[in-house]
Amino acid sequence: MNTSDRTENLTRVCIAIVICMLLNSAFPKSYIPAIVSAILMATILYKGNFPWLVQKFINTEMSIPKQSLVDAIVTLQHYENATLTWNQKKRNNLKFVGWESKKQAKSVGYLHHLDAVDSSIRINSQLANGVAEDAIKRFDITPLDLKAGTFKTNSRAIEAITHFARDWSSISEELDPLFKFINSSLDKYVKDKSKTLVVVPGSGLGRIAHEVAKMGFARVETVEFSGLMYICNEFVYGGAEKYEVYPFLGSYSHHTTAENHTRHVTFQRIQKKPENLHLNYGDFRKFTVSNPEQYDQIVVLSAFFLDTAQNMFDYFKAIENVIGENKGLWINVGPLKYGTAPYVEFTLEEIRKLRELRGWKDLDEPEAGELAGYLTNKEGLWQGYYGLTKWVSSRN
Ligand SMILES: C[S@@+](CC[C@H](N)C(=O)[O-])C[C@H]1O[C@@H](n2cnc3c(N)ncnc32)[C@H](O)[C@@H]1O
Repeated sequence: MNTSDRTENLTRVCIAIVICMLLNSAFPKSYIPAIVSAILMATILYKGNFPWLVQKFINTEMSIPKQSLVDAIVTLQHYENATLTWNQKKRNNLKFVGWESKKQAKSVGYLHHLDAVDSSIRINSQLANGVAEDAIKRFDITPLDLKAGTFKTNSRAIEAITHFARDWSSISEELDPLFKFINSSLDKYVKDKSKTLVVVPGSGLGRIAHEVAKMGFARVETVEFSGLMYICNEFVYGGAEKYEVYPFLGSYSHHTTAENHTRHVTFQRIQKKPENLHLNYGDFRKFTVSNPEQYDQIVVLSAFFLDTAQNMFDYFKAIENVIGENKGLWINVGPLKYGTAPYVEFTLEEIRKLRELRGWKDLDEPEAGELAGYLTNKEGLWQGYYGLTKWVSSRN
């Protein structure tokens, strides 16, 4: 439940209490106040967003993965309100600068800038709501399921929406250095693509897996942990609509002009998913390959993934587990920007030694440090680029 839901519910409860008190004093010995109170409270509970109540007393059957998908849908449905509220706070902040300064802010176009951000948020929300509606149909989510959903942080919704730009728009050119290494490595080290499985952990919105699937592999499996990313990746397929995506709304910093801040790219859905591409929602650490004996080779392709590990050893084990007894390749490309409260934060050299220690044989490791953006605003005043590590290792 977000703050505006909470305020709304609180207001409803207060009004209901006042009505009940008035009825009670008007009909002191009657059942009417009790009946009206019960109806009012039931309506508030049903109409209001009380996910914990629905979860506890009505909808106890929802499995954890389904609950996460529902939370992802609810989070996207709240994107518009939550982001407009954030922008409204910027507008409200003008009261602190004083009347004369506010007039000057208006003269230089700041109010128009705020309005332009509002409009862009509304357009982004068409995509957010489109994904939510699609996921409701795709996964048979009922209105009651949605009542049990929880709004996660808006930053997650923003992250998912901006990834449409990373993977499926003109900004996707930032993936070029990744594709150059991935494609040449697959061409060089995979003997027979038609007998090879490629597993892509932490696949985000799935562009890399999509392009690899088009290269003619027997099967490509993505494994994505975030319900939001996963439903957005599913949404890529099964339609032809175009959406404007505004990837740089999230911050007012580093912009040269309001136009730059609110510039958009275009994402278009794809009618058909490649037949050999399979999207999985789950934790890569628990992922298993069915019938591995049907493949000559299994490739694990980790892109901008390794540094998401809390425990890097778990990722090593998971990669080795996926490869099992098969001939295996591990193609890695990405930075070492550790995030999720990591237990170990190895250097590139330490990871190289760890591969050797665990029986991997390096086939290629180009010099590290080629720069690649990640949703980098190339027209902004601050531009983040990651130095890439790259390797191809084999086992068995
Ligand atoms: C930095 S993003 C990279 C996404 C994509 N590979 C790209 O380059 O755009 C890392 C992704 O890994 C996912 N992830 C993190 N831990 C995971 C796990 N244990 N299993 C599967 N996915 C995971 C995150 O949800 C996120 O989508």
